Amino acid sequence: MALNDSIRYHKGALFIDALAVESIVSETATPVYIYSLGRVLENYRRLAAAFAPLNAKLHYSVKANGNLGIVSALINAGAGFDCVSGGEILRALTAGAAAADIVFAGVGKTEAEIAYALRQGVGWLNVENPGELQHIQAAAEASGREAVQVALRFNPQVAAKTEPAIATGHGAAKFGMTAAFVQRLLARQAAFPRVKIAGIHLHIGSQLGDIAATRSAIKKALELIRPHPHIKTINIGGGFPVAYQPGEKLPSLRGFARALEPLLRGYRVLLEPGRCIVADAGILVATVLYVKEQAERLFYIVDASMTELLRPALYGAYHEIVPLRQTEARRARAQVVGPVCESTDVLARERLLPRLQAGDRIAILTAGAYGMAMASNYNARPRPAEILVRGNRWWLGRRREAWADLLQYEEPLGMKKTLSGPELC
Ligand code: LLP
Repeated sequence: MALNDSIRYHKGALFIDALAVESIVSETATPVYIYSLGRVLENYRRLAAAFAPLNAKLHYSVKANGNLGIVSALINAGAGFDCVSGGEILRALTAGAAAADIVFAGVGKTEAEIAYALRQGVGWLNVENPGELQHIQAAAEASGREAVQVALRFNPQVAAKTEPAIATGHGAAKFGMTAAFVQRLLARQAAFPRVKIAGIHLHIGSQLGDIAATRSAIKKALELIRPHPHIKTINIGGGFPVAYQPGEKLPSLRGFARALEPLLRGYRVLLEPGRCIVADAGILVATVLYVKEQAERLFYIVDASMTELLRPALYGAYHEIVPLRQTEARRARAQVVGPVCESTDVLARERLLPRLQAGDRIAILTAGAYGMAMASNYNARPRPAEILVRGNRWWLGRRREAWADLLQYEEPLGMKKTLSGPELC
């Protein structure tokens, strides 16, 4: 089952930790994201334990779910952070992260973002373009930093078995630099006296169960840095997979760690896990608005859509859907669709579900990663609230947007003041 110890049925009602989901939702509107902080921390600890023999430092990938409550719980658990924009750095710092525990990654960092990262004192930059080194050198001079620690992101040109849309380590991907580029930069280190190339970074894909491809990419990275013994850090990225389908078999985190340990001995290891920390800790709860049967198809039109959870529309991703109350009702194949004016606004196709009626509530499972993080305001839909649960307590992590919130950045006849440029903080 895509259910787990934290999100499960108890006496016929769906619970999240010690609370009936219905009891929370009766006080909030739907759609709403609900996260189990206990599950987030358990996932974090399981990964940390699996990689403890490698002495790895975990940098949670904020892009998966940047909710401040989740980030601050992970700070307390000892996590560092992987941020891919000035906005994510600000988010992590606002939650209380130490700048030194932040890795700043991203294929297109602007000069303004680099300068901001250096002013704040982020611990590492993962470099993906030769031109970035010039910007980092200039920003280091401007901010008086003597030595900025960077890792070069290596594109090992391996094809990993994952969804094509989230594979990043093949030659045609925009991510990272090929071996020839990395070698050239390593040969030119002296041209960037304030930049200390101290690590190599790679990330070959997300939702990646392919241990063989990961090993082969790491081997290539190690070969590349062998002539440079001062490079002692390897950041192996994120990508650990989670089960979206009931019964899906995946390599265990321990299995991953054990397979990688012999390669990584003697190196300082960094990880950037996102999905495997938060995915199965979160659900998206929706209400059935209408039931429509036509052209031999059964449609459940619900109040959640591709604007709350884009993954099915964007990647054809599967998310398990369960009713909040277990029922003996006859099951039928149905399309679960949202109200958005797009044919791809389908959360589940031909899914066998118990018969539902208008007003019934459903939970879309394994929605904690890349759910709210990718939510949009398309069709002028306010983004939903996020609720955090800890044991038998819950609180609002982020309030639901109001219609008026959607209008705050514009005026019908243009803005009175012209903003001078991107404001980073
Ligand atoms: N490090 C780097 C350099 C990355 O590009 C990513 C994800 C991560 C770490 C974290 O990967 P994770 O542990 O979460 O797999 N929106 C897509 C996933 C995009 C992943 C982007 N990069 C989805 O919904 O499946």
